[in-house]
Amino acid sequence: MISQSTVFLAALASVVSGQLCVPETLDCNEVLPIIYKMGDGSCACDSKAHDGALKYSNGKLFLCLNSEWKALRMTGVQEYGTEFNPGSSCEDILEKADGKDLSDGVYWIGIRLSESPLSTSFPVYCDMTSGGWTLVLKVVSHADQGLVKFWDVLYSTWPIQEYNMEALSITNQYKGHYKNRVYFDGNWESFNASQARVSLYESGNVVKELVFNATASQYSNWFEKARLKSSPWSDIWTEPQNYFNLKGLSARQDATRRRYFYINRNFGGCEVDRGWLVYTDHGGCHFESGRRYSTVQYSKLSGFFGGQKMIT
Ligand SMILES: *[C@@H]1O[C@H](CO)[C@@H](O)[C@H](O)[C@H]1NC(C)=O
Ligand SMILES: *[C@@H]1O[C@H](CO)[C@@H](O)[C@H](O)[C@H]1NC(C)=O
Repeated sequence: MISQSTVFLAALASVVSGQLCVPETLDCNEVLPIIYKMGDGSCACDSKAHDGALKYSNGKLFLCLNSEWKALRMTGVQEYGTEFNPGSSCEDILEKADGKDLSDGVYWIGIRLSESPLSTSFPVYCDMTSGGWTLVLKVVSHADQGLVKFWDVLYSTWPIQEYNMEALSITNQYKGHYKNRVYFDGNWESFNASQARVSLYESGNVVKELVFNATASQYSNWFEKARLKSSPWSDIWTEPQNYFNLKGLSARQDATRRRYFYINRNFGGCEVDRGWLVYTDHGGCHFESGRRYSTVQYSKLSGFFGGQKMIT
Protein backbone atom coordinates (compact mmCIF):
# COMPACT_ATOMS: atom_id res chain seq x y z
CA MET A 1 0.00 0.00 0.00
CA ILE A 2 2.69 2.47 0.97
CA SER A 3 4.62 2.04 -2.23
CA GLN A 4 1.46 2.35 -4.27
CA SER A 5 0.52 5.69 -2.80
CA THR A 6 4.07 6.92 -3.15
CA VAL A 7 3.92 6.07 -6.77
CA PHE A 8 0.62 7.82 -7.10
CA LEU A 9 1.93 10.98 -5.49
CA ALA A 10 5.03 10.99 -7.59
CA ALA A 11 2.87 10.78 -10.66
CA LEU A 12 0.71 13.64 -9.47
CA ALA A 13 3.75 15.80 -8.80
CA SER A 14 4.99 15.30 -12.26
CA VAL A 15 1.62 16.26 -13.67
CA VAL A 16 1.64 19.40 -11.58
CA SER A 17 5.10 20.44 -12.53
CA GLY A 18 3.89 20.26 -16.07
CA GLN A 19 0.95 22.56 -15.12
CA LEU A 20 -1.42 20.10 -16.63
CA CYS A 21 -4.19 20.67 -14.17
CA VAL A 22 -7.41 19.61 -15.74
CA PRO A 23 -10.88 20.91 -14.92
CA GLU A 24 -12.53 19.02 -12.07
CA THR A 25 -14.67 16.14 -13.06
CA LEU A 26 -16.68 14.52 -10.34
CA ASP A 27 -19.09 11.80 -11.29
CA CYS A 28 -21.31 11.24 -8.29
CA ASN A 29 -22.52 7.94 -9.72
CA GLU A 30 -19.02 6.55 -9.49
CA VAL A 31 -17.82 4.76 -6.40
CA LEU A 32 -15.65 7.24 -4.55
CA PRO A 33 -12.33 6.14 -3.10
CA ILE A 34 -12.59 5.87 0.66
CA ILE A 35 -9.00 6.70 1.48
CA TYR A 36 -7.57 10.04 0.49
CA LYS A 37 -4.08 11.12 1.12
CA MET A 38 -2.88 14.62 0.62
CA GLY A 39 0.63 15.55 -0.46
CA ASP A 40 2.27 18.83 -1.34
CA GLY A 41 1.86 18.39 -5.02
CA SER A 42 -0.81 20.72 -6.31
CA CYS A 43 -1.79 23.13 -8.99
CA ALA A 44 -0.57 26.65 -8.40
CA CYS A 45 -2.99 28.55 -6.22
CA ASP A 46 -3.07 31.54 -8.46
CA SER A 47 -6.56 31.75 -9.80
CA LYS A 48 -10.10 31.70 -8.51
CA ALA A 49 -10.65 28.47 -10.36
CA HIS A 50 -8.31 26.70 -7.94
CA ASP A 51 -10.05 27.92 -4.77
CA GLY A 52 -10.96 24.93 -2.62
CA ALA A 53 -7.86 22.91 -3.50
CA LEU A 54 -6.07 21.27 -0.58
CA LYS A 55 -2.50 20.28 -0.04
CA TYR A 56 -0.47 18.88 2.81
CA SER A 57 3.00 20.22 3.38
CA ASN A 58 5.41 20.44 6.31
CA GLY A 59 2.87 18.98 8.73
CA LYS A 60 0.15 21.45 7.78
CA LEU A 61 -2.93 21.28 5.66
CA PHE A 62 -3.42 24.20 3.26
CA LEU A 63 -6.52 25.46 1.55
CA CYS A 64 -6.40 27.50 -1.64
CA LEU A 65 -8.59 30.49 -0.85
CA ASN A 66 -8.78 33.71 -2.85
CA SER A 67 -5.75 32.58 -4.84
CA GLU A 68 -3.60 32.13 -1.73
CA TRP A 69 -2.60 29.09 0.27
CA LYS A 70 -3.98 29.36 3.81
CA ALA A 71 -2.85 26.99 6.56
CA LEU A 72 -5.79 25.32 8.27
CA ARG A 73 -5.76 25.09 12.02
CA MET A 74 -6.21 21.47 13.01
CA THR A 75 -7.78 21.33 16.41
CA GLY A 76 -9.04 17.79 16.26
CA VAL A 77 -11.80 16.84 18.65
CA GLN A 78 -11.78 19.37 21.43
CA GLU A 79 -11.79 18.47 25.07
CA TYR A 80 -15.15 18.04 26.70
CA GLY A 81 -16.49 21.28 28.12
CA THR A 82 -15.00 23.52 25.43
CA GLU A 83 -16.67 25.61 22.75
CA PHE A 84 -17.03 22.94 20.07
CA ASN A 85 -17.57 20.08 22.47
CA PRO A 86 -19.74 21.53 25.22
CA GLY A 87 -21.12 19.68 28.22
CA SER A 88 -24.65 20.01 29.53
CA SER A 89 -23.60 21.47 32.89
CA CYS A 90 -20.47 21.94 35.01
CA GLU A 91 -21.36 18.82 36.95
CA ASP A 92 -21.64 16.85 33.72
CA ILE A 93 -18.19 18.07 32.60
CA LEU A 94 -16.71 17.16 35.96
CA GLU A 95 -18.31 13.70 35.92
CA LYS A 96 -16.98 12.96 32.43
CA ALA A 97 -13.47 14.03 33.47
CA ASP A 98 -13.26 10.60 35.10
CA GLY A 99 -11.77 11.59 38.39
CA LYS A 100 -9.35 14.08 36.87
CA ASP A 101 -9.18 17.25 38.98
CA LEU A 102 -10.64 20.17 37.08
CA SER A 103 -9.99 23.67 38.27
CA ASP A 104 -12.60 26.37 38.82
CA GLY A 105 -13.02 28.60 35.82
CA VAL A 106 -14.70 28.99 32.46
CA TYR A 107 -16.09 25.97 30.58
CA TRP A 108 -18.64 25.73 27.78
CA ILE A 109 -22.08 24.19 28.00
CA GLY A 110 -25.24 23.96 25.93
CA ILE A 111 -28.84 23.42 26.94
CA ARG A 112 -30.75 20.35 25.91
CA LEU A 113 -34.38 20.97 25.11
CA SER A 114 -36.11 17.59 25.34
CA GLU A 115 -34.60 15.17 22.79
CA SER A 116 -32.88 17.74 20.60
CA PRO A 117 -29.13 18.23 20.59
CA LEU A 118 -27.49 20.81 22.83
CA SER A 119 -28.14 24.44 21.98
CA THR A 120 -25.36 26.67 20.72
CA SER A 121 -22.66 26.55 23.34
CA PHE A 122 -21.92 29.41 25.67
CA PRO A 123 -19.26 29.92 28.35
CA VAL A 124 -20.08 29.60 32.04
CA TYR A 125 -18.12 29.87 35.25
CA CYS A 126 -17.82 26.49 36.96
CA ASP A 127 -17.09 25.95 40.61
CA MET A 128 -15.45 22.55 40.16
CA THR A 129 -13.83 22.25 43.57
CA SER A 130 -17.20 21.95 45.32
CA GLY A 131 -18.65 19.43 42.91
CA GLY A 132 -19.43 21.20 39.64
CA TRP A 133 -21.74 24.15 40.22
CA THR A 134 -22.77 26.26 37.23
CA LEU A 135 -22.95 30.03 37.74
CA VAL A 136 -26.16 31.27 36.12
CA LEU A 137 -26.79 34.68 37.68
CA LYS A 138 -24.58 37.25 39.36
CA VAL A 139 -25.56 40.36 41.26
CA VAL A 140 -22.93 42.97 42.08
CA SER A 141 -23.11 45.80 44.58
CA HIS A 142 -22.86 49.28 43.07
CA ALA A 143 -23.67 47.93 39.63
CA ASP A 144 -23.89 50.54 36.94
CA GLN A 145 -27.66 50.75 36.69
CA GLY A 146 -27.27 52.50 33.38
CA LEU A 147 -26.11 49.19 31.97
CA VAL A 148 -29.14 47.25 33.07
CA LYS A 149 -31.40 47.29 36.13
CA PHE A 150 -31.75 44.18 38.18
CA TRP A 151 -35.45 43.83 37.45
CA ASP A 152 -34.58 43.54 33.77
CA VAL A 153 -31.88 41.00 34.55
CA LEU A 154 -34.20 38.82 36.58
CA TYR A 155 -37.06 38.79 34.11
CA SER A 156 -35.29 39.25 30.80
CA THR A 157 -35.82 36.61 28.15
CA TRP A 158 -32.38 37.28 26.74
CA PRO A 159 -28.99 36.70 28.36
CA ILE A 160 -27.12 39.55 30.00
CA GLN A 161 -23.36 39.73 29.24
CA GLU A 162 -23.34 35.99 28.56
CA TYR A 163 -20.08 36.03 26.58
CA ASN A 164 -18.36 38.69 28.68
CA MET A 165 -15.60 36.84 30.51
CA GLU A 166 -15.31 39.49 33.23
CA ALA A 167 -19.04 39.55 33.83
CA LEU A 168 -19.36 35.78 34.09
CA SER A 169 -16.48 35.35 36.53
CA ILE A 170 -16.76 35.66 40.29
CA THR A 171 -15.03 39.01 40.54
CA ASN A 172 -16.79 42.37 40.43
CA GLN A 173 -14.49 43.95 37.89
CA TYR A 174 -17.36 44.26 35.52
CA LYS A 175 -19.73 46.73 37.16
CA GLY A 176 -22.95 45.18 36.00
CA HIS A 177 -25.10 42.15 36.64
CA TYR A 178 -24.83 38.93 34.68
CA LYS A 179 -27.22 36.20 33.66
CA ASN A 180 -26.94 33.36 31.17
CA ARG A 181 -29.67 31.52 29.28
CA VAL A 182 -30.07 28.85 31.93
CA TYR A 183 -31.97 31.49 33.87
CA PHE A 184 -34.94 31.57 31.49
CA ASP A 185 -38.41 30.23 31.91
CA GLY A 186 -38.27 26.81 30.21
CA ASN A 187 -34.49 26.53 30.05
CA TRP A 188 -34.38 26.42 33.84
CA GLU A 189 -36.64 23.38 33.77
CA SER A 190 -34.59 21.74 31.00
CA PHE A 191 -31.40 22.34 32.93
CA ASN A 192 -33.06 20.35 35.71
CA ALA A 193 -30.81 21.45 38.56
CA SER A 194 -31.18 19.44 41.75
CA GLN A 195 -29.80 22.22 43.95
CA ALA A 196 -29.40 25.97 43.76
CA ARG A 197 -26.87 27.89 45.79
CA VAL A 198 -26.63 31.55 46.75
CA SER A 199 -23.02 32.45 47.55
CA LEU A 200 -22.07 35.82 48.92
CA TYR A 201 -18.58 36.89 47.94
CA GLU A 202 -16.37 39.54 49.44
CA SER A 203 -12.98 40.18 47.83
CA GLY A 204 -13.25 36.89 45.97
CA ASN A 205 -14.00 34.80 49.06
CA VAL A 206 -17.28 33.18 49.94
CA VAL A 207 -18.56 34.66 53.19
CA LYS A 208 -22.05 33.14 53.42
CA GLU A 209 -23.86 30.45 51.49
CA LEU A 210 -27.44 29.22 51.27
CA VAL A 211 -28.44 26.02 49.50
CA PHE A 212 -31.90 25.27 48.11
CA ASN A 213 -33.54 22.13 46.81
CA ALA A 214 -34.15 23.08 43.19
CA THR A 215 -35.79 19.81 42.12
CA ALA A 216 -38.80 20.58 39.92
CA SER A 217 -38.48 24.30 40.60
CA GLN A 218 -38.95 27.23 38.25
CA TYR A 219 -36.59 30.13 37.70
CA SER A 220 -38.99 32.31 39.65
CA ASN A 221 -39.60 30.16 42.71
CA TRP A 222 -36.48 28.26 43.75
CA PHE A 223 -35.59 30.89 46.36
CA GLU A 224 -38.12 30.11 49.08
CA LYS A 225 -38.13 28.86 52.63
CA ALA A 226 -39.77 25.52 51.87
CA ARG A 227 -36.82 24.66 49.61
CA LEU A 228 -34.07 25.84 51.93
CA LYS A 229 -31.65 23.05 52.78
CA SER A 230 -28.85 24.88 54.52
CA SER A 231 -28.38 28.35 55.89
CA PRO A 232 -25.45 30.21 57.43
CA TRP A 233 -27.88 31.75 59.92
CA SER A 234 -29.21 29.22 62.41
CA ASP A 235 -32.13 31.37 63.57
CA ILE A 236 -33.63 31.36 60.09
CA TRP A 237 -35.38 28.13 61.04
CA THR A 238 -36.85 29.46 64.27
CA GLU A 239 -37.47 33.16 63.70
CA PRO A 240 -40.45 34.32 61.64
CA GLN A 241 -40.02 35.92 58.21
CA ASN A 242 -42.32 38.46 56.65
CA TYR A 243 -40.46 38.08 53.33
CA PHE A 244 -38.53 35.17 51.93
CA ASN A 245 -38.52 35.37 48.19
CA LEU A 246 -36.71 36.40 45.08
CA LYS A 247 -38.43 39.64 44.28
CA GLY A 248 -39.30 40.65 47.82
CA LEU A 249 -40.87 44.07 47.81
CA SER A 250 -40.39 44.50 44.10
CA ALA A 251 -43.85 43.79 42.85
CA ARG A 252 -43.30 45.96 39.79
CA GLN A 253 -40.38 47.31 37.86
CA ASP A 254 -41.31 50.85 38.88
CA ALA A 255 -42.00 49.95 42.53
CA THR A 256 -40.84 52.67 44.92
CA ARG A 257 -38.85 50.08 46.81
CA ARG A 258 -37.12 47.23 45.09
CA ARG A 259 -35.58 44.55 47.21
CA TYR A 260 -34.59 41.17 45.86
CA PHE A 261 -33.31 37.95 47.41
CA TYR A 262 -35.16 39.28 50.36
CA ILE A 263 -35.12 37.38 53.64
CA ASN A 264 -36.57 39.73 56.18
CA ARG A 265 -37.81 39.23 59.72
CA ASN A 266 -39.95 42.26 60.42
CA PHE A 267 -40.83 45.78 59.45
CA GLY A 268 -41.63 48.60 61.86
CA GLY A 269 -39.96 51.62 60.30
CA CYS A 270 -36.48 51.72 58.84
CA GLU A 271 -34.83 51.76 62.28
CA VAL A 272 -36.73 48.70 63.39
CA ASP A 273 -36.41 46.58 60.22
CA ARG A 274 -34.61 43.32 60.84
CA GLY A 275 -33.49 40.69 58.39
CA TRP A 276 -30.80 38.43 56.97
CA LEU A 277 -30.34 39.21 53.30
CA VAL A 278 -31.33 41.72 50.64
CA TYR A 279 -30.20 43.16 47.37
CA THR A 280 -31.69 46.61 47.22
CA ASP A 281 -31.45 48.79 44.16
CA HIS A 282 -34.10 51.39 44.84
CA GLY A 283 -35.03 51.90 48.45
CA GLY A 284 -36.57 54.36 50.84
CA CYS A 285 -34.57 53.64 53.99
CA HIS A 286 -31.25 55.11 55.09
CA PHE A 287 -29.62 51.71 54.73
CA GLU A 288 -30.32 51.62 51.03
CA SER A 289 -29.54 55.16 49.97
CA GLY A 290 -26.37 57.18 49.50
CA ARG A 291 -23.33 54.97 49.66
CA ARG A 292 -25.57 51.97 50.17
CA TYR A 293 -27.69 52.49 47.11
CA SER A 294 -27.69 49.34 45.03
CA THR A 295 -25.95 46.96 47.40
CA VAL A 296 -26.11 43.39 48.57
CA GLN A 297 -26.54 43.48 52.35
CA TYR A 298 -26.37 40.55 54.68
CA SER A 299 -26.04 39.79 58.36
CA LYS A 300 -22.46 38.97 59.28
CA LEU A 301 -23.68 37.43 62.50
CA SER A 302 -24.93 33.93 63.02
CA GLY A 303 -28.45 35.36 63.13
CA PHE A 304 -30.50 38.21 61.74
CA PHE A 305 -29.44 41.78 62.07
CA GLY A 306 -31.10 45.07 61.47
CA GLY A 307 -31.27 48.32 59.65
CA GLN A 308 -28.14 50.34 59.43
CA LYS A 309 -26.00 47.72 61.10
CA MET A 310 -26.37 45.32 58.24
CA ILE A 311 -23.06 44.93 56.54
CA THR A 312 -22.69 45.60 52.86
C1 LIG B 1 -33.99 15.61 36.34
O1 LIG B 1 -33.01 15.15 37.26
C2 LIG B 1 -33.40 14.04 38.04
C3 LIG B 1 -32.25 13.71 38.98
O2 LIG B 1 -31.86 14.86 39.70
C4 LIG B 1 -33.74 12.87 37.15
O3 LIG B 1 -34.21 11.78 37.94
C5 LIG B 1 -34.80 13.26 36.15
O4 LIG B 1 -35.03 12.22 35.23
C6 LIG B 1 -34.38 14.51 35.39
N1 LIG B 1 -35.47 14.96 34.54
C7 LIG B 1 -35.30 15.30 33.29
C8 LIG B 1 -36.51 15.76 32.55
O5 LIG B 1 -34.21 15.25 32.73
C1 LIG C 1 -36.49 18.19 46.88
O1 LIG C 1 -37.76 18.54 46.42
C2 LIG C 1 -38.42 17.48 45.74
C3 LIG C 1 -39.68 18.05 45.10
O2 LIG C 1 -40.32 18.96 45.93
C4 LIG C 1 -38.69 16.36 46.70
O3 LIG C 1 -39.36 15.30 46.05
C5 LIG C 1 -37.35 15.84 47.25
O4 LIG C 1 -37.55 14.88 48.22
C6 LIG C 1 -36.55 17.00 47.83
N1 LIG C 1 -35.20 16.52 48.09
C7 LIG C 1 -34.54 16.77 49.21
C8 LIG C 1 -33.16 16.20 49.30
O5 LIG C 1 -35.00 17.44 50.11
